[in-house]
Amino acid sequence: MNILLIGSGGREHALGWAIAKSPRCETLYAAPGNAGIAAVADIADLEIADHDAVIAFCRDKAIGLVVVGPEAPLVDGIADALEAAGIPTFGPSAAAAQLEGSKAFTKALCDRMGIPTAAYGRFENEDEAIAYVRSQGAPIVIKADGLAAGKGVTVAESLPDAEAAVRECFSGAFGAAGSSVVIEECLVGEEASVFAISDGHRAVLLASAQDHKRVGDGDTGPNTGGMGAYSPAPVMDPAMMARVETEIIIPTIAGMAEAGTPFKGVLFAGLMITASGPKLIEHNVRFGDPECQVLMMRLTSDVLDLLEGAALGDLSNASPRWDSRPALTVVMAAKGYPGSYEKGTPINGADDLNTEDLHVFHAGTKRNGTQLVANGGRVLNVTALGNTVAEAQARAYAAVDAIDWPEGFCRRDIGWRALAREND
Ligand code: AMP
Ligand code: GLY
Repeated sequence: MNILLIGSGGREHALGWAIAKSPRCETLYAAPGNAGIAAVADIADLEIADHDAVIAFCRDKAIGLVVVGPEAPLVDGIADALEAAGIPTFGPSAAAAQLEGSKAFTKALCDRMGIPTAAYGRFENEDEAIAYVRSQGAPIVIKADGLAAGKGVTVAESLPDAEAAVRECFSGAFGAAGSSVVIEECLVGEEASVFAISDGHRAVLLASAQDHKRVGDGDTGPNTGGMGAYSPAPVMDPAMMARVETEIIIPTIAGMAEAGTPFKGVLFAGLMITASGPKLIEHNVRFGDPECQVLMMRLTSDVLDLLEGAALGDLSNASPRWDSRPALTVVMAAKGYPGSYEKGTPINGADDLNTEDLHVFHAGTKRNGTQLVANGGRVLNVTALGNTVAEAQARAYAAVDAIDWPEGFCRRDIGWRALAREND
């Protein structure tokens, strides 16, 4: 089968690497891709927002499956356009992608299906939102509805901070995403993510992971897309996984099917494990980045069984198998990220580190001739397996230290939460 992979991040490199290992993969194409993806796929010169061009490419190359990595093209309806053209696509319709695109949509689904989540109110009027914040008190969480590039959430520790966040949303700071505001109870516990694949009706649980969102060691500094991750999340023991499946994943898939917007693709449930059990913070309609990298490192069965099964609407035979060892990934980013940073700085020594238990996935990279250079904020994802999280961490940082990139940096404490448990 010929496959087209859409995206250009570390997530897509990990997906492409896993897809290319499948005996059923004939030619893998990718767009826009990056220097790492170019090692496992043919880069297609395609404008992915131009759905007609993507369809024409798929017909020309006899593409049997399109795999969409990021959420933006899904919210933009690329899966609808491809499916309408008869091209099997891994990734939800625009209607189903509202699970990530609209917080209010997901909250309404939680209400209908009894899915545990933070108590909330939704407001389109600033004065009513402020009155609600005052009636609830701090800490409280303020969210711009809609996609705000991860910047639309404020966990406010005080009432003045909460009121300022509400005013910021209504002032247009997040564009249209801020014209409607969701105000939530602040959940207390440990965050974890659970991934599941769905064909629209069934859900197949994948694995859990934990991310490191802040840029600095000790979870300090501004939020990022994620500076490192590991899988599994120790807090997600089999009993907690079963609760998440029963209380959150299955009702989500059932509720989407009942609403006439069946969900096909990967569901990424962001959870708070509270004293009273798992609560949904948010759903995403794609793999996490860098969570996907640790999942693909641990997946030992054929990823195409999952991606194609979901796309074709039949996951009845899917039973993913996992390396029981933990995997951990360290994100190397350009100095200045998540603020402004330089592009084009040279990276040496990243090409020949891969072993069975270690893989350097590329995010924002490209080649100037043969020279690998940085081409984005998050640039490399050094990903390792180990018998323990400590071993995976040591292996990953040894590889990080072998990479010569003076303009890059990384957190030095990826995995600290899991390590603290291992050392208990
Ligand atoms: P979101 O964009 O909804 O994932 O929120 C970003 C981050 O804000 C989450 O990963 C949590 O750390 C935090 N957060 C969101 N909602 C809540 C909540 N209701 N209670 C506590 N923390 C939250
Ligand atoms: N790493 C978090 C995300 O992909 O949303």
